[in-house]
Amino acid sequence: MKVTVVGAGNVGATCANVIAHKELANEVVLLDIKEGFAEGKALDIWETSPINLYDSRVVGCTNDYARTKDSEVVVITSGLPRKPGMSRDDLIATNAGIVRSVTEQAIKYSPNAKIIIVSNPLDVMTYASYLTAKVDSSRVFGMAGVLDTARYRSFLAMELNVSPKDIQAVLMGGHGDTMVPLPRYTTVAGIPVTEMIAEDKLNAIIERTKKGGGEIVNLLGTSAWYAPGAAAAQMVEAVVRDQKRIFPSCAWLQGEYGLKDIYLGVPTKLGKDGIEEIIELQLNEQEREMLYTSANAVKEVMDVLDGMDLKAV
Ligand code: LAC
Repeated sequence: MKVTVVGAGNVGATCANVIAHKELANEVVLLDIKEGFAEGKALDIWETSPINLYDSRVVGCTNDYARTKDSEVVVITSGLPRKPGMSRDDLIATNAGIVRSVTEQAIKYSPNAKIIIVSNPLDVMTYASYLTAKVDSSRVFGMAGVLDTARYRSFLAMELNVSPKDIQAVLMGGHGDTMVPLPRYTTVAGIPVTEMIAEDKLNAIIERTKKGGGEIVNLLGTSAWYAPGAAAAQMVEAVVRDQKRIFPSCAWLQGEYGLKDIYLGVPTKLGKDGIEEIIELQLNEQEREMLYTSANAVKEVMDVLDGMDLKAV
């Protein structure tokens, strides 16, 4: 079984590395447009196999989509990352073109693949890929919620001085500053988080989570990769091992939460068919309001994409 990661930059290479370490596929294909780049990264990753004791074969190729043929999952990380001062939306024009052409090539060689989008602006790039792939929306979805909840959970673990393993949380909405962490659905080993932390501290963590990507951009001068790469790999795992895990994913909504024709982060069940279920929470009025604000922010950028008339490939 084969998994392809398109884009051998920091996020793509990290993702391929985690997939190999976890032996999620017999073959991991890393593809990049830059001559020799994916080959180099893949070789470096493969050379860790005798040390880390795995046998998932990692191979790299330059833009050779025939090499990706019959992949079970294709992870798309291609596109420019953010620089300080840039919002994820600033990347739309460049990255939409890239994501569309990658999707077209990938689906041509792997017509049954599940496609996981990591490129930014995440929600809108997932939409761009869906328009191009012309397959059921259950097979085209975006990684963001797993990353954003991981950030939220890691901050809570630090604050409470507990294991991050014991922190469970749901986070909804777009992958941007309007994302909606849900304290009512956050627990520490089953204990509601509100019983463990003061309200002001929790609110500060929520604010830090919303700007979690920007915090790293400001520190590094480019966007994050360890957590985004690992988050995408965890979604791959749920699909290839048919785990039926409940993760927030960027999914195509058709009436769920009263929203239609929009890609947005919602709790989903991930298994061999991709998004096997969208879970509808009983949100209270305030939570619903925040979700709608986030949906509006995403829709605005989707409209910009539609306005670019990039629909037809
Ligand atoms: C982040 C980028 C990958 O949140 O969107 O770090």
